[in-house]
Amino acid sequence: MNTLGMETDHKIRVMIPEEELDKKIEELGAQISKDYAGKQVKLICILKGSIFFCCELAKRITVPVTIDFMQVSSYGSGTTSSGQVKIKKDLDESIEGNHVIVVEDIIDSGNTLARLIPMLKDRKPADLVVCTMLDKPERREVEMEVKYNGFQIPDEFVVGFGLDFDQKYRNLPFIGVIEM
Ligand code: IMP
Ligand code: MG
Repeated sequence: MNTLGMETDHKIRVMIPEEELDKKIEELGAQISKDYAGKQVKLICILKGSIFFCCELAKRITVPVTIDFMQVSSYGSGTTSSGQVKIKKDLDESIEGNHVIVVEDIIDSGNTLARLIPMLKDRKPADLVVCTMLDKPERREVEMEVKYNGFQIPDEFVVGFGLDFDQKYRNLPFIGVIEM
């Protein structure tokens, strides 16, 4: 057990504490509820990393919400994405005519979303925007419009609140940095 009250193999430094995440997600939920007043939104949760953020966000949205899931993977391994994207699990339902919000954990190079968004737009949603919990602008390789953005963070590898290192640490209730 470490000072954060969690058992971890690595030493992890807190970058964004739980309270700050909660506050930001509440703000994002309020903004989305206002922007989509009178409409119904469909959240597309990009598995697995976005699951914690997506659930917390959904709880803060006051207009009617539906949620669908998609899992994509970038080819290659390690901590960088190679620029190719493969659908591992597709959505269960059509998004035609829907007000879609793609919910991401983090935008890094931007390659994943840059490939995914055109594919989703081909399915003719009424409109489609992106909501990300974290954004690493320094790492961006492709331009993209992000409507809702929780935190801009420096170029450090982060874990927690859904984000993993080798599939671990998704359950940390804060955003942390592994001290190597
Ligand atoms: P992109 O295609 O480079 O924007 O990569 C996005 C994906 O890479 C995210 O959805 C995460 O799964 C993963 N990723 C990028 N940076 C981090 C990080 O700091 N920690 C954990 N996963 C990350
Ligand atoms: Mg992801």
